[in-house]
Amino acid sequence: MDCVEKKANEINETMWYDVNWLFVGAGGAAGAVFRFLLSRFVSQKSNTTFPVGTFIVNISGALLLGGTLVLLANLTGASNDALGSNPTPRTAASVANGSALFQINCTSCHGDDARGDGPLAPTLSRPPADLHAAHVDDHADADMAWWIMNGIQPVMPAFGDQLTPEQVWDLVNYVRSLRQGLEE
Ligand code: HEC
Repeated sequence: MDCVEKKANEINETMWYDVNWLFVGAGGAAGAVFRFLLSRFVSQKSNTTFPVGTFIVNISGALLLGGTLVLLANLTGASNDALGSNPTPRTAASVANGSALFQINCTSCHGDDARGDGPLAPTLSRPPADLHAAHVDDHADADMAWWIMNGIQPVMPAFGDQLTPEQVWDLVNYVRSLRQGLEE
């Protein structure tokens, strides 16, 4: 179904969007310092009150710096790996803990058996994912953990404030176990 890759990309882009603005902001700040130094230099030289040339240099400098940093971050893929790999082995204990957390936090939408048929499902603008569906295999553990922590706009709430990282990984292990059982 459509939720698959499309959703994963959307989410990653949302993440990038936030991080990019940080970089552009850093570029802008560096540009402002640069502008200050240059405008002092220019006004000493030519006695102009408004240094138009410096202003343009400032804007270009900020954009160039921000752009370069964004490009560098894209090349290294730094923030896509923000959550890293799943630190918790998919043991029976972890899955049992995840299952218990699922019953408390997730079944209202995803259903007792995670088939997307919880009591709230008919009221939502997007159907809750069937977590037994084949496309779940396409999502990395870190993607699922990120969705659980940050929610999926506009319907699924964020659980990052209510669950510890360990609990989130247990939930990821539970969801994974629905199709793949326990880790060898
Ligand atoms: C208020 C309803 C709601 C609750 C509560 C909820 N979800 Fe969701 N969840 C959704 C919806 C709706 C989607 C599908 C989003 C979409 O396709 O845009 C979804 C998608 C997902 C996905 C992505 C599946 C895929 O393959 O695309 C995962 C994983 C997931 N939920 C896990 C959980 C877990 C774990 C919990 C409990 C901690 C939870 N959800 C709680 C509504 C909910």
